[in-house]
Amino acid sequence: MARAFLARKGVEEARLEGELLVAHALGLDRLKLFMQLDRPVSGAEIDRARDLLVRRGKREPLAYITGEREFYTRTFKVGPGVLIPRPETELLVDEARRVAAELGRGALRVADLGTGSGCIAITLSLELQGAHVAAFDVSPAAILCAQRNAELLGAQIEFVEGDALATLPARAPFDLIVSNPPYVMRAEKPLLAPEVAEHEPELALYAPDSDPDFWVRALLEHGREWLAPGGAQLVELGHQQGERVLALAQTLGWQASLVRDLAGHQRVLVARPPQG
Ligand SMILES: C[S@@+](CC[C@H](N)C(=O)[O-])C[C@H]1O[C@@H](n2cnc3c(N)ncnc32)[C@H](O)[C@@H]1O
Repeated sequence: MARAFLARKGVEEARLEGELLVAHALGLDRLKLFMQLDRPVSGAEIDRARDLLVRRGKREPLAYITGEREFYTRTFKVGPGVLIPRPETELLVDEARRVAAELGRGALRVADLGTGSGCIAITLSLELQGAHVAAFDVSPAAILCAQRNAELLGAQIEFVEGDALATLPARAPFDLIVSNPPYVMRAEKPLLAPEVAEHEPELALYAPDSDPDFWVRALLEHGREWLAPGGAQLVELGHQQGERVLALAQTLGWQASLVRDLAGHQRVLVARPPQG
């Protein structure tokens, strides 16, 4: 029934999400739901499951309803006002770890610009031993959420609320500057799924001035002053930005490369100032 209802509402993974929501309403995980099929269900539990399914039927994202999302094997709390971590952002973390290993220094200084739920900053803090991670966001809701996640996951992070372009320079230099900035153009809104367009925060989605390259350009134009010797910037890209920002990086004198995601899209720009 849950599956048919969600499928009618256009939810793609209707069966899986129906099971997850019913399990959530019963306070179980999906596996336990199947192991306890004989368990009696109370009227209150049925009402709760119904409410959750109705919310999902209105295309509220599953992660906002359950209040969490997995990222890099850890569970992050999320809610309205905070971007839900995406699987492709794990590639940015993989690349940051690879570049950190190449740097071969201990106690790296890392900046995460536009931290949202804190998924990148917290993961890097937990994966890079001894790193000092500073996480920047202009959204108070994001900073609160990221602070809570850091506490729950046992990460020590310096959180800075405000426009990152104004607050980051005073804390430089950093060995790594990482960012998944807003890179969607407002004109693309009709192409987004209702879960994204109608529920996720505009500040996290849309690039300023409807310029998808705004943040990459700012980082490439000013970031050199914010990097320690040998440092690098890693920026997540929309799938049509790659060639354009690679050319921009090279014009501005960076040693730059692009990393493709599993779908074959150029997803991460890695840029270093030239050596010497
Ligand atoms: C695409 S989301 C990324 C969130 C998170 N890092 C992730 O990967 O899931 C972009 C984030 O940048 C933040 N942001 C937007 N403009 C900003 C600014 N001027 N200074 C700092 N953060 C900003 C938004 O609030 C949002 O949390």
